[in-house]
Amino acid sequence: MSHSKLQSMNPATGEVIWAEAITPVAALDGILLTAKSAQRAWAATERNDRIAVAQRFAELALAEKDAFARLIANETGKPFWETQTEVATVAAKVGISIKAQTERAGQSSHDEGSFTRTLTHRPHGVLAVLGPYNFPAHLPNGHIVPALLAGNVIVFKPSEKTPATAAFMADLWARAGLPDGMFQLVFGYGDIGAALAGHDGIDGLLFTGSSTTGLKLARQFGETPWKMLALEMGGNNPLVIWEPDLAQMEAIAALVVQSSFLSSGQRCTCARRIIVQDAHFDAVTEAVAALTHRLIIDAPFADPQPFMGPVIDNAAADHLQAGNAALLSAGGKAVIEQQRLMDDKPFLTPSIVDMRGAAEAADSELFGPIAQFYSASQFDEAIARANATRFGLSASLVGGDSALFDRFAAEVKAGIINWNRPTNGASSAAPFGGIGLSGNHRPSAFYAADYCAYPVAGVQSEGVTETIAVGLKP
Ligand code: NAD
Ligand code: SIN
Repeated sequence: MSHSKLQSMNPATGEVIWAEAITPVAALDGILLTAKSAQRAWAATERNDRIAVAQRFAELALAEKDAFARLIANETGKPFWETQTEVATVAAKVGISIKAQTERAGQSSHDEGSFTRTLTHRPHGVLAVLGPYNFPAHLPNGHIVPALLAGNVIVFKPSEKTPATAAFMADLWARAGLPDGMFQLVFGYGDIGAALAGHDGIDGLLFTGSSTTGLKLARQFGETPWKMLALEMGGNNPLVIWEPDLAQMEAIAALVVQSSFLSSGQRCTCARRIIVQDAHFDAVTEAVAALTHRLIIDAPFADPQPFMGPVIDNAAADHLQAGNAALLSAGGKAVIEQQRLMDDKPFLTPSIVDMRGAAEAADSELFGPIAQFYSASQFDEAIARANATRFGLSASLVGGDSALFDRFAAEVKAGIINWNRPTNGASSAAPFGGIGLSGNHRPSAFYAADYCAYPVAGVQSEGVTETIAVGLKP
């Protein structure tokens, strides 16, 4: 790989699908100066004009749906059916963000008689966005749309693994009428991300990625608490199966497979740890294994359509193979063995590991198709196992009644807590974020409006009418 060029590879074929010069760190000064002067003009536009540009962006995304989804599929290896849903989510984000901004970061004034109480929200200014590769359009878009609506401008550094999708999005914004300088791209690896994050010219950073990187950013921002830092990070998510309806075992297996293996396990909300009531461990594991054996793992446009594709690249596949081997070395037993389907390509089969009796596994996120199965004899023990993590993104209970779910919801530590639903597939119309190592209490999705603007409260009156009623000498 050339040091000056960033290349994007199709994980399913190994082909280079896109190449562009890496942005030199020295170019950041100019990029951020441009952003700063563009921001003044953008913040001065009417909100309705900003909304109109965002709506044109959504229309163009839908008009280009096929090309857009094909590009994401080619760049990530995700099935085409899945990337089509990603594009639809990108377009739908605009309407949701307008509503969220109105509800959560709008303007109001209340007449209190002798004065008026006002609330407005102001943009931070220049916001850097750092994105992950698993949803290269949807997740950065979840920061970009609300940030632009609020009057910020964007400098976006996409994942080095998915820059072509970012370039496609930049083109859509330009065609939607977003003026020059309001959405700029920076291409490269973590070093340019770190330089952008540390640059004086940004007023905040909106990040979606791993907890490892997020922690580095939190340290970097420790000296600049006045800058906005929103961190959406990883998870080590539990799914508890308790008092399951045995007549529904196929549906339960489908829910577990969807939670653990959708997008080849490359969703931050995927269930990594399946905790099963011990009396039902064998039945559940057998049903999940039987369904897993039937999953089609293939390239994005294969016929029949695959359930899942490769993971993002060979380095990720190597890492996941090492992580899986560590579970087995710790005493885990392979219920379904992980396989690398091609030596030179990152196609991995889902792995199911029975962790009963194994040494405690590291509390780290294995961002791929690996499900660890545990058992518990008491519900308290299942909750303790679910909470035995520094992360806290999503959790699900499968089975039980509403009283059991109430207990689960009260005791489990996570930002998303579901009942008889998968851990993943989060809605853009709800807040999306986690606790512990999963975030810094700046949830995204519907609550992204909150971190894209700061509130300014005031009281105003036409004239000065102040009197001092007590504490005066006669
Ligand atoms: P990553 O942390 O490796 O990279 C994310 C971005 O940060 C990339 O653009 C990368 O180049 C950049 N980066 C890397 N090191 C940096 C540094 N030192 N300083 C500044 N920028 C740096 O994440 P990834 O592997 O691309 O994505 C997968 C991860 O994202 C998983 O951990 C997953 O759980 C997480 N994720 C979280 C959410 C969420 O909303 N909570 C959603 C999707 C993915
Ligand atoms: C993700 O953002 O990685 C997953 C979103 C989801 O499916 O919950």
